Amino acid sequence: MASKYHLENSSFYIDGTDTPCNKINIINSIEIHELEKELIEEAYSVFYDELDENTLFDEIYFRELHRRTFEPLYEWAGKYRDFNMFKGESRFCQGAYVSSESQKIFDALRVENYLKNCETLSAEEFAAKIAYFKCELIALHPFYELNGRITRLFFDMMAVFNGYGYVDYSTTTPEKYIEASIECVQFADCQKMEKIIRDGLKKENNF
Ligand SMILES: Nc1ncnc2c1ncn2[C@@H]1O[C@H](COP(=O)(O)OP(=O)(O)OP(=O)(O)O)[C@@H](O)[C@H]1O
Ligand SMILES: [Mg+2]
Repeated sequence: MASKYHLENSSFYIDGTDTPCNKINIINSIEIHELEKELIEEAYSVFYDELDENTLFDEIYFRELHRRTFEPLYEWAGKYRDFNMFKGESRFCQGAYVSSESQKIFDALRVENYLKNCETLSAEEFAAKIAYFKCELIALHPFYELNGRITRLFFDMMAVFNGYGYVDYSTTTPEKYIEASIECVQFADCQKMEKIIRDGLKKENNF
């Protein structure tokens, strides 16, 4: 079986596997997932510790999350893809427009001060704002791989900044999460994702 994604550039995966080419030549997909899991856990602790009033949830920050988290493993960490990609019926942003579309999303986020002043909003209002930008990033799908994990990390840091804990996705199922993502990508409808985020947001005041 080739990769689960349909790529218009297939040299990304090790031949005949679902494993992306990597710096330490791991072929086994269980092994690579385990390593990715360790790297993302470490990233949560590193980026949590680095959060302060000056943190800007801008495009540089978003790309740095990906680069710094996965650089030990992948050459392409932090790099945007330049080829087209789709999954099931969902076609993500065309490769040629990833950079310009990303800029538009982060320009809109800047207009909202990177959602840094949301402490006075209700959890519902905050969830709606996160869901909007999250759906935009899901439809963008800017990296070759690991978009889901980095996008969750990004909004988790934003949630903490605003006095919440990390979004608890255990209130949903992987199937419902994908369903919500499909609605984002194919219908620009973020209502399902908004509910998932609303259900997973808990005040914590730990920052
Ligand atoms: N059929 C689909 N239609 C639209 N979006 C999808 C579809 N399948 C997956 N996605 C989105 O793509 C993300 C997966 O992207 P990718 O594989 O690059 O990252 P990941 O970190 O491995 O993801 P995850 O941990 O969420 O499975 C999912 O989190 C989801 O938001
Ligand atoms: Mg993946």
